[in-house]
Amino acid sequence: MADRGRRWTVLVTGASTGLGLALARRLIHTRHRLILTARASSLARFADAGVSDDGEHVHLRALDVTSAAQRHDVIEEAEARWGGVDALINNAGVMYRAVLEHVDDAERLAQMDINCLAPLDLIRLVLPGMRARRAGRIINVSSVSGMMAMPTMAAYSASKFALEGATEALYYEVRPWNIKVSLVQPGFIHSESYRNVRLTDASSRSLDDVDEAYHAHYEHMQPFVERLMDASRSTPDRVARTIVRTLQRRRPPLRVPATLDAWVFAALRRLLPRSIYHWVLYRNLPAIRTWGLPPGDREPARPAASPAGAVEVGAGEAEPELATAAPLGLEVERSGAATAAGPPPGPRR
Ligand SMILES: NC(=O)c1ccc[n+]([C@@H]2O[C@H](COP(=O)([O-])OP(=O)(O)OC[C@H]3O[C@@H](n4cnc5c(N)ncnc54)[C@H](OP(=O)(O)O)[C@@H]3O)[C@@H](O)[C@H]2O)c1
Repeated sequence: MADRGRRWTVLVTGASTGLGLALARRLIHTRHRLILTARASSLARFADAGVSDDGEHVHLRALDVTSAAQRHDVIEEAEARWGGVDALINNAGVMYRAVLEHVDDAERLAQMDINCLAPLDLIRLVLPGMRARRAGRIINVSSVSGMMAMPTMAAYSASKFALEGATEALYYEVRPWNIKVSLVQPGFIHSESYRNVRLTDASSRSLDDVDEAYHAHYEHMQPFVERLMDASRSTPDRVARTIVRTLQRRRPPLRVPATLDAWVFAALRRLLPRSIYHWVLYRNLPAIRTWGLPPGDREPARPAASPAGAVEVGAGEAEPELATAAPLGLEVERSGAATAAGPPPGPRR
């Protein structure tokens, strides 16, 4: 890491699956001590992935980030056993798929808690030790949704925008103590994570009811996002490599776009006047002209992926949403080109 002479203690949240596990697998090959955390119910996944606690280099620890007591205990234990956390990677996160009108207080709080409030509290807990040592690294895993918002992701975007705002302030606040703070921003990752997307009570009902006002929003956005994830060339391992490189940089930037589409969106936001940017994104939403119309007047949604898992586009079809995928650098396969197994089952309810 930045201080190459010392062995660092690196704490990762949500490390038993997805990006967190890819990160754990990469960090294991460094000389640094790891505290890999996951919810108690998910700890068994480490063994399945061949990651074990050796009592010295790798420590596996239960941490539900929404538990204030567990947050406190894990940091206190790290201080007692290893002199504190030198690098904190806030990776754990969830996504609710719901329009703003379909998120109630409890769901809103759960989204904000896991993705923003808990990471900020973990930072608060590690900072006194980092300031005392006059060194430290904090990496918050954000998202393209922390720089732009999409329909049916209101609460998720709110959580990542909030995380970005707080992290930006922190970047200035702790620099005098040589504590380096970064936001890593993945876009669409080719992974199974869409299986973990959560529906709220109201969005679940709407998805099941064609007469519900927002039905078309979900019917079109769900397969649209899944197609883009399926077509993305960015894997959890590639994003994990970007995070490790960010840790190793002497002067890490505050924001690190971590996939090609994240770079494109960051550039679009910088270069395009905001009104044109929003107009372009709006016009490229799938079947947007028919959202809000009575069921008989709407366009049917395209499925998320072919039975073979590949994104299918019939030859010669001009799909408006592909205009979004193309500038994002996402490759959409033509009919007949199969990649993975099985159609996606859709989000958790
Ligand atoms: N996948 C993408 O396309 C994408 C794009 C942009 C940003 N991101 C961000 O990348 C990060 C990792 O996501 P991922 O793609 O790896 O998704 P994932 O496969 O769904 O993994 C999410 C991780 O967060 C953990 N988690 C959820 N609630 C938790 C809690 N209360 N306490 C502790 N851990 C909890 C999960 O543990 P359990 O298994 O126990 O639930 C899991 O390990 C998230 O912050 C996400 O917002 C992902």
